Amino acid sequence: MAKETPIKARTVDFSFYYGSKQALYNISIPMHQHRVTAFIGPSGCGKSTFLRSINRMNDLIDGTRHTGLMEVDGTDVYSPEVDVTTLRRRVGMVFQKSTPFPKSIYENITYGLSLTQNKPKSELDGIVESCLRRAALWDEVKDRLHHSALGLSGGQQQRLCIARAVSINPEILLMDEPCSALDPISTGKVEELITELKDAYTIVLVTHNMQQAARVSDYTGFFLMGRLIEFDRTRTIFTSPAQKETEDYITGRFG
Ligand SMILES: Nc1ncnc2c1ncn2[C@@H]1O[C@H](COP(=O)(O)OP(=O)(O)OP(=O)(O)O)[C@@H](O)[C@H]1O
Ligand SMILES: [Mg+2]
Repeated sequence: MAKETPIKARTVDFSFYYGSKQALYNISIPMHQHRVTAFIGPSGCGKSTFLRSINRMNDLIDGTRHTGLMEVDGTDVYSPEVDVTTLRRRVGMVFQKSTPFPKSIYENITYGLSLTQNKPKSELDGIVESCLRRAALWDEVKDRLHHSALGLSGGQQQRLCIARAVSINPEILLMDEPCSALDPISTGKVEELITELKDAYTIVLVTHNMQQAARVSDYTGFFLMGRLIEFDRTRTIFTSPAQKETEDYITGRFG
């Protein structure tokens, strides 16, 4: 059994509301450093809401509010002294539908960098290569770095978005169903990548694919209608869940 690493982020009694609609109820979860924490559960149960609360992406939606604590490195991310731009640099995100900028492959990676750091041009080539290598994309695109990113396949675009997220060196990487639009081969590549990236980052992954959660994650949380039904080591969740609802869901008897 993998050894316990320090807690990088956690929530305590975290609730979240869209206007009068409560989407999360008293969620308490630890997210361990250099581990993959996966969230599973049926559509609408609050997985994305939870993920977007970690880097305050929900702030962009009018009328939202929360109660309880959301901590990264022991600091409440909602406390007034937290700078949201810095937070989002430390907590990167990859979305379900990949969204490369309508720019070249090269610029997709350097764009984020030029906003956040003043790298000399000479260094950029090396950074672009290393990010693309880490995203297992280099060999496929090295001869067309200055072509539009929109000319890549869906799976390549998703890996480019991962390369872009990695380029600013986040500490935590949030991934919301990163493989939902991918074929099995691309999915396999992204899963390998997740496993490699966890040595450097803390990864929080939302997935509808239970085999994927079982394959790549160390911890799994099962959400149902805004509540966290069960959270444990992935092996425990998939072999001997404590709650009947969890068992029903992972064995496909749900609903
Ligand atoms: N911008 C929004 N405004 C109002 N309600 C929202 C908003 N986004 C999500 N919700 C509601 O919050 C609840 C949780 O949604 P969320 O997107 O977090 O679920 P999810 O588990 O990610 O679902 P899926 O698996 O379909 O992506 C749902 O009832 C949803 O309708
Ligand atoms: Mg979602």
